Amino acid sequence: MADTFYALPDGFLLGAASSSWQTEGWAGKKEGHDTYIDIWYRATPELWHDCYGPKNATDFYHRYEEDIRLMGQCGLDAYRTSIDWSRFIGDYETGQVDPEGAAFYDRVIDGMIARGVTPMICLEHFDVPGELFRTYGGWGNRHVVDLYVKYARTVFERYGDRVKQFFTFNEPIVVQTRTILDGLRYPFHQDTRLAMQWSYHKILATALAVREYRKLALGGKVGVVINIEYAYPRSDAPHDQKAAHMYDLFYNRMFLDPAVKGEIPAELMEILRSEDCMFEYREEELELIKDGVCDNVGLNLYFPMRVKARESAWNPELPFHPCRYFEPFDLPGKRMNPHRGWEIYPKIMYDMAMRMKTEYGNVEWLVSENGMGVEGEGSFRDASGMICDDYRIEYIAEHLAWLLKAVDEGSNCKGYMLWAFTDCVSPLNAFKNRYGLVEIDLEDHLARHIKKSGLWFRTTRENNGFVFRDLKTEYR
Ligand code: BG6
Repeated sequence: MADTFYALPDGFLLGAASSSWQTEGWAGKKEGHDTYIDIWYRATPELWHDCYGPKNATDFYHRYEEDIRLMGQCGLDAYRTSIDWSRFIGDYETGQVDPEGAAFYDRVIDGMIARGVTPMICLEHFDVPGELFRTYGGWGNRHVVDLYVKYARTVFERYGDRVKQFFTFNEPIVVQTRTILDGLRYPFHQDTRLAMQWSYHKILATALAVREYRKLALGGKVGVVINIEYAYPRSDAPHDQKAAHMYDLFYNRMFLDPAVKGEIPAELMEILRSEDCMFEYREEELELIKDGVCDNVGLNLYFPMRVKARESAWNPELPFHPCRYFEPFDLPGKRMNPHRGWEIYPKIMYDMAMRMKTEYGNVEWLVSENGMGVEGEGSFRDASGMICDDYRIEYIAEHLAWLLKAVDEGSNCKGYMLWAFTDCVSPLNAFKNRYGLVEIDLEDHLARHIKKSGLWFRTTRENNGFVFRDLKTEYR
């Protein structure tokens, strides 16, 4: 098969991402600094792979300087991480900082800038402060929105002179979906209306934070990072098409539409009303959402979601759940990442990119996460001990090639951020599946070693592109 040189357009960012709780560890945290994630881990450590959780993570808290040096060595233009709200803020009601907590983020952000790595800062990555979770039940309570806006303003005032890309949330749909809609995680509730309330409050919080940022006229951008599960119908039959439409409505458009178009889809609101699980809202808040659209969005793109119309009748005794309208479809012959259990379908990059162009006004966006978690990477070492993760290089190259094709066809995508920069702690899976360009050696005091993919990343940056085979669509 022929090889092609895939050129990165001028100004196209190549970066990587992670988050506070997946890297920092609890070092430096004071009493009362725990987050929802910490509470969850403390409640059920046995559910986490090898009982390893956020406590030590990668010890980024102590080793951030070494990691920032490695970012340079891997050729990263940018690094996205998050601020741990509970570490950073000393008083939630006033939004005043905790001086030591904030000083840590000063050092990290200034350290990145000094090494030429552009910081991108996210304000929440699944980790609502434990105190707000216990006192108010987290995002179900409207007051938490006001506290978040104060926190956001404090972050913007402190770093807005040197951080030019903020994100309000990472994957705002995830926590309530796993915990309250599906009852899979602590505290194992099931309450559809409450889950929708969490979502609504995060949509509102994004819009209010964007408005707050604009008032400060800092000249940067605020977006939100949304995990898109691009929904492909089993067939072209209307019932399967409808299944994909519904999946998209509840899992993608619920956040993407307000972020870009300023509106929660009317169809979604209608369904929630008729199913008696509508969230509480005020009319004037919908106007604020209209006025608080993001400057750009980050899309986390990992796998396609394949759906079909339900084959069994819905149990009318159950409270509403979006899966009333669909079932997962198991496509025979699909490519899989068996470690994570996610399908590999690189064309999602192209399909979503073109959708951003045609359905979302070609708004500016970037791939804020994409990556491959693999177990047992220690068996891929070469004689020097380096992990030769050719499968990851192949994965990145193929996804990036599809993305660049869409950019070439006019999609307004400004960059690609790999998940993750170093191996890090996954929710529940902890260090089982490794994602990094840089290995974290758990057997050797968390020593850092660049993998072959880290070298590939750097070469790609230096050459402004990479060689890869011609693309072909494997299946729908
Ligand atoms: C993204 C999240 O959904 O996927 C990350 O933003 C997460 O926090 C990443 O780690 C990979 O998923 P997982 O579950 O394998 O860690």
